[in-house]
Amino acid sequence: MAAMPYPVGTVANSEGHLEIAGCDVVDLAERFGTPSYVFSVPEMRNRARAYVDAFSSRTDEFEVLYASKALPVTAAYRLFAEEGLSVDVASGGELTMALAAGYDPSLIYMHGNNKTDAELKLADEAGVGHLILDSFDEIDRCERVLSRRQDVMIRVTPGIEPSTHTYVQTGQLDSKFGFGLEDGSAERAIRRVLASPALNLVGLHFHIGSQIFETEPFRLAVQSLAELQGDWCRMLDVGGGLGISYETEDEPPKIESYVDMKIEAVREFFGREVKILIEPGRSLVGNAGVTIYTVGTIKEIPGIRTYLSVDGGMSENLRPMLYNAKYEAAIANRAGRPAETVTTIAGSHCESGDILVRDVALADPQVGDILITPATGAYGHAMANNYNGMPRPPVIFCEDGEAKVVVRRETWDDLLARDA
Ligand code: LLP
Repeated sequence: MAAMPYPVGTVANSEGHLEIAGCDVVDLAERFGTPSYVFSVPEMRNRARAYVDAFSSRTDEFEVLYASKALPVTAAYRLFAEEGLSVDVASGGELTMALAAGYDPSLIYMHGNNKTDAELKLADEAGVGHLILDSFDEIDRCERVLSRRQDVMIRVTPGIEPSTHTYVQTGQLDSKFGFGLEDGSAERAIRRVLASPALNLVGLHFHIGSQIFETEPFRLAVQSLAELQGDWCRMLDVGGGLGISYETEDEPPKIESYVDMKIEAVREFFGREVKILIEPGRSLVGNAGVTIYTVGTIKEIPGIRTYLSVDGGMSENLRPMLYNAKYEAAIANRAGRPAETVTTIAGSHCESGDILVRDVALADPQVGDILITPATGAYGHAMANNYNGMPRPPVIFCEDGEAKVVVRRETWDDLLARDA
């Protein structure tokens, strides 16, 4: 079934303004300025609960990890900790944020294909529960750097290519990530780690990619990892990757059926109870977030197209430029009115490729309108940058009509703050 890209419960209010988690988006733009990232807290909580409920109705042996790269914001770490999720961090920086949010270190799983000495030391001092080992060099580094015996898992690249953008495929043999299955590296890594006094091998991990709608590649990955299992293998981390709806016609699998399929695959191919770990990022936060902008300039080129420029662009949403990602858009202060004016939404950066949405129909757009793009909750703030000296937008959490700034807007002065 087609799924709306907006948070559940987004409505047009009596003033014809879009309302998210009870907050009038046009009011938010007046109070906090634009561009801003706006999140529905209930949508994030409901998605976390959908994962937990889908597992707990079928097994006690599971952990849901928040893949925090999707929205590395202290308040988000705190929210998912409250929902009982563990957390996946992929760098010392994400680890620092998880710890600052009060995450129990034993619930932290640390990834990274090139963890530095400094990152491993930070993890060691913090008492991080698990490291996911990615290379033979890292095994050497762990033996040199770690002060105590560390629980670890091994990341395997099973040689599977789901249909998604090649930049976000990660499970193919030709990948910088993990230990290859086909070339025997995974088996060698297992033998190497089992023989290491510094490391305690407890399981296997795979992550085949992101924004995936098919379920078969995940099944195949579980099947191929099963051949590596031994008595030591108490847990299997099946990664993240569930796709979301960016456009209304998108039909991603539901969280429940996706989890069911993963549990079934583990039971079928492992043939025994292993603890199942899952690492969703995008599917927890993507549809919970929108970005709001102010329309600044409208340029009509007769017979060619109409450009509508907003006060952001490739600095706060790099995904259209990087992955050719498609988004919807609407005029938030003219909600529910017929969208009949086709425009191309451009950002304010010095590049012609700075296009957020091509050929989208809007309701009579005017300078000063508030434009909204849905489904920007994942990897928007996370990949924001200061190109052209653009200060990064604030992150605003909304719940029951209350809006709270959880990351403030960057200022022009912030851009000078690191000058030495
Ligand atoms: N686990 C590992 C080891 C990962 O590398 C990732 C994402 C996840 C879990 C979470 O995957 P998700 O559930 O979010 O699909 N910047 C790209 C996405 C890169 C994903 C990187 N790894 C984008 O904007 O589409």
